[in-house]
Amino acid sequence: MHNESTGGLTVLVTGGAGFIGANFVRWALAERPEWRIVNLDKLTYAGNLENLDGIEEGARYRFVRGDIRDRQLVDRLLAEGVWGIVHFAAESHVDRSIESATEFLETNIVGTQVLIEAARKAQVARYLQVSTDEVYGSLGAEGKFSETTPLAPNSPYSASKAAADMLVRAAFHTHGFPALISRCSNNYGPYQFPEKLIPLMVTNAMSDVALPVYGDGCQVRDWLHVSDHCTALAAILERGRPGEVYNIGGSNEMKNIDIVRLILSALGKPDTLIRHVTDRLGHDRRYAIDSSKIQSELLWRPQIDFESGIRSTIQWYQENTRWWRNIKSGDYQGYYDRMYAARLEAAR
Ligand code: NAD
Ligand code: DAU
Repeated sequence: MHNESTGGLTVLVTGGAGFIGANFVRWALAERPEWRIVNLDKLTYAGNLENLDGIEEGARYRFVRGDIRDRQLVDRLLAEGVWGIVHFAAESHVDRSIESATEFLETNIVGTQVLIEAARKAQVARYLQVSTDEVYGSLGAEGKFSETTPLAPNSPYSASKAAADMLVRAAFHTHGFPALISRCSNNYGPYQFPEKLIPLMVTNAMSDVALPVYGDGCQVRDWLHVSDHCTALAAILERGRPGEVYNIGGSNEMKNIDIVRLILSALGKPDTLIRHVTDRLGHDRRYAIDSSKIQSELLWRPQIDFESGIRSTIQWYQENTRWWRNIKSGDYQGYYDRMYAARLEAAR
């Protein structure tokens, strides 16, 4: 819907203080001058306002701390006249879902249904469910996931994402809800929480701490730079066909152990830092994405090759040690309170 102050469209981004959401907010503010962004984020352990440093609140951007399950809050935000929703907010880490699944079901499934119902009532024009390739399960040595591959999630995390996808599908089928689903492979880039493979290994190596490789380290992931994910999401939101699923991938399959060795070599650290540890329970062996549908229909192509993307990503973590040291020390969690305390102080 039209926005009076910017003359453009209001887009509600959920989970915009997390890794991909924050990169998307930055991308959108730079590349879509006609958009006004409302960022709804609960600031769980994974949400970090330092990911949005340098972005001022004003006519084009507003941050709202809150839970996507809070229907009254979501209704209030949508009543401002929202054109589209890009739904990132989720519990996203597989290992945590193996420890305890409750929050995954609450946020990823219940939270998605709350958004769907509120968005239907508010007659939002476009709704993009940011899903994952993990809903397809695991591959053997050959083949790739296409949009018609049957869902076969293997972890509580991927099961909760698959359930959310089914709710979105049902809303489209039953109510004609204008929803789109994206399923992307593993992302890497700046502002990724250092519990995920690449930032964990980079920051451990920089600190001369052991690098925990699960099992034999020969599991394969298909890596995509987060900024390529952002352009794919914009293409789907703006030009995708409602009711459709679009896979997004980098055509860049790598074994975990090769990534770990590459990181150590780039940082000039010895392979003796590698520790093979007990494997993840139910560990998916291989993911690979066939992204020919988004390439042919929406003319999207990844722009960043892995060699330069991983180099610039490692450099980013080298140049932003305060950012990840704050996370590893737990200090970042007071950032919101400190920022707003400082604002209140300044306003006195
Ligand atoms: P993340 O864990 O870094 O960020 C998640 C964000 O959601 C955080 O800011 C958190 O505070 C917020 N959040 C969590 N629960 C919330 C709630 N109940 N209400 C409001 N906000 C809440 O995740 P990410 O890696 O940026 O992933 C974003 C989305 O993309 C997820 O839906 C994930 O499933 C999907 N995805 C991730 C990848 C990847 O490689 N990281 C790949 C494909 C798809
Ligand atoms: O494929 C998309 C998915 O990618 C997203 O949906 C998830 O939100 C995201 O977390 C990611 O899931 P993975 O489980 O693939 O990512 P993670 O970084 O946790 O692990 C990548 C691989 O590295 C995986 O095979 C497990 C392995 N690993 C991971 C960690 C954290 C290790 O060997 N050691 C580790 O310490």
